[in-house]
Amino acid sequence: MGKLTGKVAVVTGAARGIGRAYALKLAQLGADVGVIDIDLKSYQHFAGESIGEQYESVVDELKELGVKAFGMEADISNQEQVQNSFQKIVDNLGEVDILVANAGGGTGSILENKPSEMDPEQLQTVLERNLFGTVYSVAAVAPGMKKKGYGKIVTVTSQAGLQSNKDGTYSHYGASKAAIVSYTKSLAQDLGTYNITVNAIAPGYIETGRLIEQFEQAGVETFTSQTALKRLGTPEDCANVIEFLTTDLSDYVTGSVIDVTGGALK
Ligand SMILES: NC(=O)c1ccc[n+]([C@@H]2O[C@H](COP(=O)([O-])OP(=O)(O)OC[C@H]3O[C@@H](n4cnc5c(N)ncnc54)[C@H](O)[C@@H]3O)[C@@H](O)[C@H]2O)c1
Repeated sequence: MGKLTGKVAVVTGAARGIGRAYALKLAQLGADVGVIDIDLKSYQHFAGESIGEQYESVVDELKELGVKAFGMEADISNQEQVQNSFQKIVDNLGEVDILVANAGGGTGSILENKPSEMDPEQLQTVLERNLFGTVYSVAAVAPGMKKKGYGKIVTVTSQAGLQSNKDGTYSHYGASKAAIVSYTKSLAQDLGTYNITVNAIAPGYIETGRLIEQFEQAGVETFTSQTALKRLGTPEDCANVIEFLTTDLSDYVTGSVIDVTGGALK
């Protein structure tokens, strides 16, 4: 019996990267896991994201861990698709106890989008993907959690949502992730009375298959030197915090932001 046996968890954006590590961690803890991603085979886009040849997607990896798993392809910034995907997951796995609203990311080069020169189209895209995607995911699970009188919601912000980049670059992404912090704190106040905790995780420089290529191009030392621990983070470093935020260890923690930045926030 795992700590989360009998629970149903949904992780958005779990086809690769940190989201995949969250989904695997929740399954290792015994939860049945629903996955929503715009592309369940998105791991194929980056060499560093390879999964075992015997698996078609993370959904197969989850089943191999002995839990039930169900995958849906949907754009997290489209409310109809999000609602429909959560409904299919509920039909297959049952009402959702745990949501990790992880799907997201930025657009363009990390040297662009200074606040005074922001591209409105890119701002729109990242707000829809990060903030609206989180809001739509919460809207899909909140009624069921309220009815049960139980829920664990984890939103995903970023180091970039808590402090600005040097020279103010990538501020469209930072603004969208900062908005998630504010939304998370309000949501915790809203749902506390239903015994639903709401917290945010704020990853720093995490070596996913996608980002390791960018870190290596710029020189890994550029990033590790900004951390107290003098190393990049791993998806597992983040997944360990998800274990805390989704189990009874965090039952009296709500409205908090836990940074997993290796001490990069000073
Ligand atoms: N990797 C880092 O260093 C880092 C740092 C801070 C925050 N984050 C945040 O953590 C989360 C995961 O990051 P990652 O590095 O694993 O990202 P990633 O790009 O490797 O994986 C993101 C996953 O989300 C999916 N996705 C993207 N847009 C989607 C959409 N519109 N609808 C549904 N699915 C969508 C992708 O297909 C992919 O499988 C993101 O919210 C990201 O902003 C990451």
